[in-house]
Amino acid sequence: MSPSAISELTQKCQDIAITPAKTLHLKGHGDGEATSNGLEKSEFLLGRHLHKAFPMVTGGKGNYLYLADGRTVFDASSGAAVSCLGYGNERVIAAITDQINTGVSYLCSSFWGNSVVEELCKELINGTGGQMSRVYLTGSGSEAMEAAVKLARQYFYESDKQTPRVNFIARETSYHGNTIGALGVSGHVARRAPYEPFLMDNIHRVSACNAYRQRKNGESDESFVARKAAELEAKFQELGPETVIGFVCEPVVGAALGCVPSVPGYLKAMREVCHKHGALFILDEVMCGMGRCGTLHAWQHEEVVPDLQTLGKGLGGGYQPIAAVLISPKVVDAFMNGSGQFVHGQTYQAMPVQAAAALEVQRIQREENLMQNAKTQGEYLEKCLKSLLGDHPNVGDIRGRGLFWGLEFVKDKETKEPFDPKLGVAEKVHDTAISAPFNMTMYPGTGTVDGFAGDHIILAPTYIVTKEDIERIAKVTLEVVSKVFESPGVDS
Ligand SMILES: Cc1ncc(COP(=O)(O)O)c(C=O)c1O
Repeated sequence: MSPSAISELTQKCQDIAITPAKTLHLKGHGDGEATSNGLEKSEFLLGRHLHKAFPMVTGGKGNYLYLADGRTVFDASSGAAVSCLGYGNERVIAAITDQINTGVSYLCSSFWGNSVVEELCKELINGTGGQMSRVYLTGSGSEAMEAAVKLARQYFYESDKQTPRVNFIARETSYHGNTIGALGVSGHVARRAPYEPFLMDNIHRVSACNAYRQRKNGESDESFVARKAAELEAKFQELGPETVIGFVCEPVVGAALGCVPSVPGYLKAMREVCHKHGALFILDEVMCGMGRCGTLHAWQHEEVVPDLQTLGKGLGGGYQPIAAVLISPKVVDAFMNGSGQFVHGQTYQAMPVQAAAALEVQRIQREENLMQNAKTQGEYLEKCLKSLLGDHPNVGDIRGRGLFWGLEFVKDKETKEPFDPKLGVAEKVHDTAISAPFNMTMYPGTGTVDGFAGDHIILAPTYIVTKEDIERIAKVTLEVVSKVFESPGVDS
């Protein structure tokens, strides 16, 4: 982008960031303890932070959340990369309402079938171009990971009750969920720490695929990928290839690393190693999938079809808690020709009301060609972010794909040294962004370097964003980052 284009962009966005909050008709405050800055501490909910006060939200529409203190906040992260269609979508609300009005929002999935559930599964299979053949529905990404781990183990158990396949290989600095099984697969050091003594000990790790931090000077994509494939091969050999169930990774790492895409050729090379040893290639697309990266599935970027794949977040767009495992014909056949039963199940799975919401979200995405918008606006977001923040001394890396972008913060751009974790840099960026006059959400993450040190934020706006929205996001991000790094104690 030329300097004049940047200055035009800056000018255009100038007013947006300092626009006074709109006054809206709002409901009353919550019952929590009000603080002087309009935040409230919960009295009854045991949330993630017991001492932190939060802004109270009273409503939302499109890209915006309306707060009890009168502010309107632009959601540039879709919550936690969830609200892909924005808030208050009337078609989705109608689909949910219609389903509830049939009288069956819930059905016991071991007694009954339901056409909405079947329609959703058909929509999802069609979205893979027929590469996957069955869908297992769950209520969260963590549950989807639990189910994937069990499906993978049972795949081998179906044909051999004495199968020696007991090990998984996952990656460092990865996040796959918070339930005990999913956390066991996760390489998120801080989230694992309190529970380490009882997490599964059959999960082994190789390094992530993080070009910013791991690529050697002058190393080509091919050499980098070959190094990663050799590391995976060595791990198979160390464990005994016949003991490995599968390898698990995120095609674009979300919360743990801040939108780090796999280097071209990586997924294919890793799948080859898995298949050479008869192990399964498993992708976690809970965060990066369902259009977030500009293709419906992140693996479609390079057409590297997995054996099992998890989905979540954008599947239901936040309108219902729903996630899924997509299962390839190879794995389905093993069950079909074996016991014909998956030894798993939960009360809230495959609920018609969940399916009605997700089906409508997916139909809207398809009918309104929102994947194309995610791709086009995502490319523009990359351009704007790199033009405005690429030279900032504390922005070490800007990476991502589609509408999934991460900014990694560093104390020293040359050495890539991270900030002292005690400074809470990512949290400061989030807290500043969400406050007036910026009024924008950015999703913060820490442990980006080694699980403890390292700070990043994720920008993951809705798929309905316009060019003007993208310019606003980039401009406000610049203003927020500038403000945080100029403040005492955080300067480099
Ligand atoms: C890649 C990935 N996998 C799994 C999960 C767990 O999903 P959930 O929080 O819905 O249980 C997450 C959540 O952030 C995620 O990002």
